[in-house]
Amino acid sequence: MSEALRIGVAGLGTVGAGVLKILAAQGDRLTAVCGRSVEVVAVSARDRNRDRGVDLSSMRWEDDPMALAAASDIDLVVELIGGSEGIAKDLTEAALKSGKHVVTANKAMVAHHGVALAKLAEASGVALNYEAAVAGGIPIVKAMREGLAANEIASIHAILNGTCNYILTEMEETGRDFADVLKDAQDLGYAEADPSFDVGGIDAAHKLAILATLAFGTELDFDTVHIEGIETISATDIHFAAEFGYKIRLLAIAEKIGDGLVQRVHPALVPVGTPLAAVSGVYNAVAVDGDRIGHAVLEGRGAGEGPTASAVLSDLIDIARGLVVSPFMLPVDRLKAKAPSAMAQHKSAYYLRLRAVDRAGSMAAITKALAEASVSIERIVQRGPKGDKKGGGSDASGRLPVVFVTHECDEATMVRAMDLLKAHEDVAGEPLMIRIEDGELR
Ligand code: HSE
Repeated sequence: MSEALRIGVAGLGTVGAGVLKILAAQGDRLTAVCGRSVEVVAVSARDRNRDRGVDLSSMRWEDDPMALAAASDIDLVVELIGGSEGIAKDLTEAALKSGKHVVTANKAMVAHHGVALAKLAEASGVALNYEAAVAGGIPIVKAMREGLAANEIASIHAILNGTCNYILTEMEETGRDFADVLKDAQDLGYAEADPSFDVGGIDAAHKLAILATLAFGTELDFDTVHIEGIETISATDIHFAAEFGYKIRLLAIAEKIGDGLVQRVHPALVPVGTPLAAVSGVYNAVAVDGDRIGHAVLEGRGAGEGPTASAVLSDLIDIARGLVVSPFMLPVDRLKAKAPSAMAQHKSAYYLRLRAVDRAGSMAAITKALAEASVSIERIVQRGPKGDKKGGGSDASGRLPVVFVTHECDEATMVRAMDLLKAHEDVAGEPLMIRIEDGELR
């Protein structure tokens, strides 16, 4: 049997403790699986005295995580500190430069600095593995790098944030408030340290940018991801969507349009009966369209201790077995230059919700404004002042909820229409538009 793989773990929060628990519980089996043992030589975290439910007595404690990168008795650093900058990045760079493998769950760091870090890993001939950074327990990085490597990928449609999916489905099923459900997701260990990263779509965008590089072989380009979060989605929208035969999900989509690449994260109406509409709770799913396989959908828990720690372990096992591949499958110098963003060329039908002033002629004036912007309407639903159980009635100022479903139009047309509506005297407050993803989901 080969020598042990000696690891140092930086960050002992939910995921770090989960990793140590699996190693303690399954040490013998993992040794057999890897052909060598995996030994935790040292750990580092902020608070030495916190009870994490794991025995740290056999591990050296380092107050400064950078000591893990410098230690001569460590082959691999597990970075679970988080954050795109600062100590997590410094530690990762130092470890790679000193010829140590790195396993990380840090999607923000990989999304912002993945290419530069991959260069360091390649130069040192070590691994930079990040399965836990994308879609929790779903082995999607491995699937893209290995199982689907023979495919030309046309598109990815995914649910990549467990917190948002949990919130949307809890609101859908129980009618509870957004804030109340977000608190649950935090208590369950799903949410980021700053939950605005979750509900604002940023966390899903980090993951999407990473997947897009794996799928399309283009340089990582987080800055051109179009990002909208779920903060503006109300119970009314969820109910209207259901009335039209849809669920609302936060989707992360990457697809080629002409020479460009569109990467977009936003709430979307997805038809009931499609796989992504059926994804509920903390689950994530990734639907891949490949030229050889056709369509494949992978689904699993996207957040939480067990799924994320399981993904970290899968990376450790690969390295212990001697599998070291380029972080983004293609060597960094073979990644194509960033494709231009193609968001303006996006086309879809739209769901449009606004509150109209309750006066004779207001609806005619609003539909005229939409016609002037060249938006064609497929359906209109207006609630009476008292509303009904599927949508609120008039608000305190007597303004009525109105919902439109449009025919397909391009994004630029819809943006113009929204500007007209925002300035319209018969429209109160901010109108809301949600894209409808009809045809592409599998
Ligand atoms: N906050 C993330 C989520 C954790 O809710 O999906 C997993 O990356």
